[in-house]
Amino acid sequence: MRTNNDVLHLQAQLQGLLGGFYPDLQIRVFDEIDSTNTEAKRMVRYGFCGTALLIANHQTAGRGRMGRSFYSPKQTGAYFSLLTPLNVSLPDSVTVTGAASVAVMQAVLALCGVQTQIKWVNDLYLNGKKVCGILSETISAGDGTYLIVGIGINLKTEVFPDELAQIAGSLGEESPDRGFLIAEVFCRLQYFLQNPKDTGWLEEYRACSCVLGREIVWHQNGQRFCGVATEIDETGALLVKKENGVTERLFSGEISIRTQ
Ligand code: BTN
Repeated sequence: MRTNNDVLHLQAQLQGLLGGFYPDLQIRVFDEIDSTNTEAKRMVRYGFCGTALLIANHQTAGRGRMGRSFYSPKQTGAYFSLLTPLNVSLPDSVTVTGAASVAVMQAVLALCGVQTQIKWVNDLYLNGKKVCGILSETISAGDGTYLIVGIGINLKTEVFPDELAQIAGSLGEESPDRGFLIAEVFCRLQYFLQNPKDTGWLEEYRACSCVLGREIVWHQNGQRFCGVATEIDETGALLVKKENGVTERLFSGEISIRTQ
């Protein structure tokens, strides 16, 4: 019963916060679903062609980058996806993903005063642990292509599975109200999608990066590389000076910070 009330409360809260500004926005809150990104894809396949915000209390098959799963326990996190038609003026999904991490970072800071850091490409860290992940995807159906930005924020999750215990964390006691946070992130992301030429977010992206100036490790075609992260360019790509002096531009993928 409480769960149903929570769903209804969140639906009404988000409708109240966003409905007036975005009258065509479809807001759907689920108590339990496999994945809000997967649901967004289903909606497109079934003919939905507008903009939607999908939120779940709990995901049974939350998806992360690189085919990984995303741990999404009941009630303790904000798991949501923005679905929108991808028109030609929109930036590519790498840039969207970077901007989305800034949107979450700013929203968390604005609502609860907690400063998180961004680990390229788009993970948010607090006290050395990952508290937010973002999965951007595109899907084509009919004669349109759609962008899905899926965001998972650990708000009050205290217990993680063994394999995540050392790397995942949450915002904890300071964490903001879930509805306000989702609405705030949504508005910031919408601004970016509607103003793709405004690259102001890059300043914050660089300023809050926890990789710039650090020695990092990455893999390409089965090979391991090391170098110092020197710059994030105007497309969001990471420039890394390798040990042989050559500078490489990384556009996507996974890096780790070298600790020794
Ligand atoms: C990552 O850390 O690799 C990305 C995680 C993205 C998780 C969010 S939660 C809402 C949306 N639905 C999903 O299945 N994934 C994203």
